Amino acid sequence: MTQLYQQYRAGAGPLTEDIRDVFLDAAMTEMGFAPGPVMDGRALLAQQCAQCHNARLDPTISRDLFLVDQLDQMSRAEKDIAIERLALPLDTRLTMPPPLFRTLTPEDRALMIDELRK
Ligand code: HEC
Repeated sequence: MTQLYQQYRAGAGPLTEDIRDVFLDAAMTEMGFAPGPVMDGRALLAQQCAQCHNARLDPTISRDLFLVDQLDQMSRAEKDIAIERLALPLDTRLTMPPPLFRTLTPEDRALMIDELRK
């Protein structure tokens, strides 16, 4: 990717690949970008959402309406919004978790949605 970028800077024409894509697929789990193989819905929600959705962050912005570290106190309505956002296709601005930051299988999504239905 460094080489591609240097060629681009030198005027070789448009970039032919997404130069942000530098991580090995096999390392995504260890880096926390993808879940491990034996996580249930609750563990997945904590791992996939808590970085951006927890009670220690700025409470004045809408992101804080979904506090995954307070799942047991969360309203039905907020859980339903989360289910909707988890079920969106990967190419919308509203998709959660943001696809640039997380890689999930449809099975991972289904486990989280089942947990949020409780
Ligand atoms: C990298 C940061 C990041 C991660 C990870 C993330 N979110 Fe978000 N989320 C945001 C931001 C920023 C917003 C506010 C902007 C918006 O609504 O798109 C948001 C908004 C939301 C909202 C809307 C809250 C409301 O009522 O307006 C829901 C629901 C949500 N996220 C669910 C999730 C779920 C479920 C996960 C994990 C599976 C997740 N998010 C992971 C950054 C993140």
